Amino acid sequence: MDPRLAEHRRQWEGKPVLRAIYTDLYRRMAARLAPGRSLEVGGGSGNLKAFAPEVVATDFLEAPWLDAVADAQVLPFSDASFENIVLFDVLHHLARPRAFFEEAARVLGKGGRLVMVEPAITPLSGLFYRFLHPEPVALCVDPLADQETGQARDAFEANQAIPTLLFGRQQGAFQQAFPQFRISETAFLSLFAYPLSGGFRPWSLIPAGAVQAVLRIEDGLLPLLGPLMGFRLLIVLERL
Ligand SMILES: C[S@@+](CC[C@H](N)C(=O)[O-])C[C@H]1O[C@@H](n2cnc3c(N)ncnc32)[C@H](O)[C@@H]1O
Repeated sequence: MDPRLAEHRRQWEGKPVLRAIYTDLYRRMAARLAPGRSLEVGGGSGNLKAFAPEVVATDFLEAPWLDAVADAQVLPFSDASFENIVLFDVLHHLARPRAFFEEAARVLGKGGRLVMVEPAITPLSGLFYRFLHPEPVALCVDPLADQETGQARDAFEANQAIPTLLFGRQQGAFQQAFPQFRISETAFLSLFAYPLSGGFRPWSLIPAGAVQAVLRIEDGLLPLLGPLMGFRLLIVLERL
């Protein structure tokens, strides 16, 4: 097994504040699902699987807590075999996003949902992600083009700007390329609790006990502050 997955799982298990913040995001995702079977792509350390054991959890990398190994860009499932596909922090890692959306459209039944939570590049979160986060933010790319460099690509290579480019400024281009999908929702989430928690790093500036109160305050402020400082983007696509 890739040691990074085991390390992520260890950090997840030892960090209640992170689990509280992710559980809130998982609940928001679950509320958007259509009734029926759900597939998780890029399940990694198995956090979402622990929250929703009925989801078929897969990843490019093998791990004992996942149900199958699957490349997002060549999904080993038959046509219209799921009602939902969920991704948490995965789209911005994919080398061939166009191939993934083609596969998602094939594997989802009509009326199915593709629900994703990804980094949002807003004026404030952009500074954080650029200077305090190890993954690059490259805004001057074609987000539907192959992101490969010609060398063997690591599963954790990334461009954190891809989701914001696809579902922010360039929604029109996505819609033109994928008329099989309707963009039914995009929403900024995560203002204070997530960056203060330090994510998967060992430190946190917020105690787990304060998370629910901070998230309630965030909810009230999201319509105003989301576009300025939202750290996450929730994207819901419907398969037409
Ligand atoms: C940042 S991790 C997120 C893991 C998990 N969803 C979570 O929230 O902790 C990104 C995951 O995407 C997976 N990944 C990258 N490229 C992939 C691909 N082509 N197909 C499936 N999974 C992929 C990686 O192996 C990794 O587990």
